[in-house]
Amino acid sequence: MTDAVLGIIGGSGIYDLPGLEDSQWIEVSSPWGAPSDAVRIGRINGLKIVFLPRHGRGHVYSPSTINYRANIDVMKRCGVTDLLSVSACGSLKEQHEPGMFVLVDQFIDRTIAREKSFFGSGCVAHVSMATPVSPKLVDAVAAAAEAEGLKYHKGGTYLAMEGPQFSSLAESELYRSWGCDVIGMTNMPEAKLAREAEICYATVAMVTDYDSWHPDHGEVDIQAIIKVLHDNAENAQRLVGRVARDFPKNHQSCPAGSDTALEFAMMTAADK
Ligand code: ADE
Repeated sequence: MTDAVLGIIGGSGIYDLPGLEDSQWIEVSSPWGAPSDAVRIGRINGLKIVFLPRHGRGHVYSPSTINYRANIDVMKRCGVTDLLSVSACGSLKEQHEPGMFVLVDQFIDRTIAREKSFFGSGCVAHVSMATPVSPKLVDAVAAAAEAEGLKYHKGGTYLAMEGPQFSSLAESELYRSWGCDVIGMTNMPEAKLAREAEICYATVAMVTDYDSWHPDHGEVDIQAIIKVLHDNAENAQRLVGRVARDFPKNHQSCPAGSDTALEFAMMTAADK
């Protein structure tokens, strides 16, 4: 049986993970280029944790300039079996209020300017993204949110946009008409690359605003987002800490096949 290793990618406002025991920042290099930062490796309740700040300490990478391939690659090199992405997002539904955590289970990828695959020349693979998050990881986060008394919603669709500008009112309304729950700029291609790397993936989407559509909330602005992030940073840390403390020490196989995604995904010529 393989040991579980929990990776955590911290989004805007989350540049460190307090509570890690015996931890150190370690530079890990990748053939895919420079990751966003060094990783902080340590333990929580005996479980190995690998933390990476998605935008780098000091918030130096925008959503479009993050090297997602290098980030997922260093997670894989550190032995990560399960990856939790913590990400700020806008709400596209009244009931998803700022401060809530939405545990999404679907994505719509509208990003256009990012490298999205480890495969392409020499080696071709088509992994399934029908079930893009690992249900057992989502269940672990839901149980942790419940235990910590945090406001959360299980399920929902995350619209990944390119940015860095926020959506127009028409775009925001379009995504609402598609039934999307939240909007963000970073979970794609991260989720796709995690699947290609056979890492179980789930997102904790932390609602910071009502995007551009809500008549009572005006336009989304970054100062308001930073305030909500600041006010909720402690809840996010508590949630992640609880997931880590209660996480099974042995890797549990993924019901959605995240950890065996490449088994039937490789494309070869019929006569080879
Ligand atoms: N991140 C936080 N709020 C957002 C929004 N409204 N749109 C895109 N990304 C976001």
